[in-house]
Amino acid sequence: MTLTPKKAQDSLIQMTELVLPNDTNTFGNLMGGRLMYWMDIAAALSCMKHCAAPVVTASVDNISFETPIKLGNVVHIEAKVTRAFNTSMEVHMKVWGEDPVMQYRYKSNEAFMTFVALDPNGNSRPVPPITPSSDDEIKLFEGALRRRQLRLILGGKMKPADANELRALFFEQS
Ligand SMILES: CC(C)(COP(=O)(O)OP(=O)(O)OC[C@H]1O[C@@H](n2cnc3c(N)ncnc32)[C@H](O)[C@@H]1OP(=O)(O)O)[C@@H](O)C(=O)NCCC(=O)NCCS
Repeated sequence: MTLTPKKAQDSLIQMTELVLPNDTNTFGNLMGGRLMYWMDIAAALSCMKHCAAPVVTASVDNISFETPIKLGNVVHIEAKVTRAFNTSMEVHMKVWGEDPVMQYRYKSNEAFMTFVALDPNGNSRPVPPITPSSDDEIKLFEGALRRRQLRLILGGKMKPADANELRALFFEQS
């Protein structure tokens, strides 16, 4: 069965949260775990919007917290599906903090997660392909194959020898 492709832009989710005392560590900064929880939800919503099915988190790529987000500041998360494979989707997230009084935004971090769509029996099911449009979407779409190979190797699901696109980055093809 061939599924109708959908635009990457149509999977966009924008989430806004306020950092409250219970979200912070003893330095008054947003805890990493709380941010990852919100990112997980935004990413899952984006994938569900794309595939119209329940999804589970299959993997989370490494996350570097570049700038702390302060108590009383606002968290903005944008999540968009970069590429759909067979039953899995890679989703890209951008996170900003915002000081609502001084009215400026600052970048916090970016991350990739992978979700798998499930059928009513809990088995993985095919998802529609993604059509990228903007330059950014095309760049993310093209890089998704390599990132997928890297995470499948790290997860013990792919042999390095089978990761052709990833190998092409490091070795000249004969
Ligand atoms: C994710 C899960 C559905 C994969 O099931 P599986 O039977 O191991 O996977 P399969 O080999 O059938 O592969 C299914 C898809 O998952 C992808 N996948 C599996 N492991 C992955 C990983 N570590 N990273 C990225 N993708 C992964 C496969 O590439 C495949 O994608 P494709 O169909 O687009 O090629 C299963 O491991 C699961 O249910 N895990 C728990 C999910 C969960 O509870 N998440 C919440 C956090 S605890």
